[in-house]
Amino acid sequence: MSFFQGLNSISDDNWIINGLLYTALSVGVLKLTSIFLNSASLLFDLFVLPPVNFSKYGAKSGKWAIITGASDGLGKEYAIQLASKGLNVFLISRTQSKLELLATEIETKYKVEVKILAIDFASDKPSNYELITQLIKPLPVTVLINNVGQSHSIPVPFIETEESELRNIITINNTATLRTTQIIVPFIINTLKENRGTRGLILTMGSFGGLLPTPYLATYSGSKAFLQSWSSALAGELAEYNIDVELVISYLVTSAMSKIKRTSLTIPNPKNFVKSVLSTVGRRGGAQERYATSTPFWSHAIIHYAIENTVGVYSKIANKLNLSFHKDIRKRALKKAARLAAEKKE
Ligand SMILES: NC(=O)c1ccc[n+]([C@@H]2O[C@H](COP(=O)([O-])OP(=O)(O)OC[C@H]3O[C@@H](n4cnc5c(N)ncnc54)[C@H](OP(=O)(O)O)[C@@H]3O)[C@@H](O)[C@H]2O)c1
Repeated sequence: MSFFQGLNSISDDNWIINGLLYTALSVGVLKLTSIFLNSASLLFDLFVLPPVNFSKYGAKSGKWAIITGASDGLGKEYAIQLASKGLNVFLISRTQSKLELLATEIETKYKVEVKILAIDFASDKPSNYELITQLIKPLPVTVLINNVGQSHSIPVPFIETEESELRNIITINNTATLRTTQIIVPFIINTLKENRGTRGLILTMGSFGGLLPTPYLATYSGSKAFLQSWSSALAGELAEYNIDVELVISYLVTSAMSKIKRTSLTIPNPKNFVKSVLSTVGRRGGAQERYATSTPFWSHAIIHYAIENTVGVYSKIANKLNLSFHKDIRKRALKKAARLAAEKKE
């Protein structure tokens, strides 16, 4: 007797059981179809579709991209790669000398215009935002990269987190991102009004730290999870203005913040990471289940997709593994600090 004949014979005896079995079967087929379609979409996003053409965001037509945290790490790469696509770049971060050096490098190499602004977002001074407004007023802006961010200096239990560190993380990652975006969006809307057919783009740096609740980085984790909800909500609001809004999720990348120098399959350098972001704008990569969100680097995408479709990002098991991973990093960081302190004394 075949499976379906089996089901029919049960149906003769008990239509309720038969109904339940058909329902379970249909739900299973739907779930499998959804996993198949999402997996196919993941593979297409990562390995098949051609790179996004930035002319739709005003590249090579005198438009400007604003990049926060632009003098180092990922921000510096966003600046370089957007300039290489033909956008003028406005660079914001703390250190004037680093900004000047980068501006000269970009102007010489890519023949685009560069403006710089050295401010400390942690100070949260109204004058910072007045300066941004004044300097950006005359520029036809189409792109904003909300890249600036701070994490904990080393993994730390929440109750031991220094108040200044806690405040800086929230001020830089959240308040500065919101205030900067609020200032710049009206300028983007104006540029798009005067340039029909051009789109706007707002990318905000999320993190695996925000994707997965991360013990020992609790404040950073919360700040990045906040950006997920905020950015997706904003994507809904700004769609009618032709502005694409996307949260970019990343696992580790070599940089001053991650304190990792060596690349590996799962840890790209900023150049390769940013290339993956800019070539896949508008696609979800590993974030298949999330609106206006992308996990673009191939190995990060596969890890994200695998966690989401197995234990889940909010599961106890993911939390436990993350806790032991970060406890271990803390132990090693404290050991290193003690060794350096001893060497200094000698
Ligand atoms: N690297 C990773 O593994 C990783 C993983 C996931 C997500 N992310 C996210 O990616 C973004 C960039 O990280 P990154 O690794 O490239 O960081 P990074 O190498 O430490 O660079 C940070 C940049 O932001 C600037 N900056 C820092 N604090 C600032 C402040 N208070 N005011 C103004 N500018 C400030 C720095 O300027 P100065 O050089 O002048 O100080 C520098 O240009 C962050 O949002 C981070 O959370 C990074």
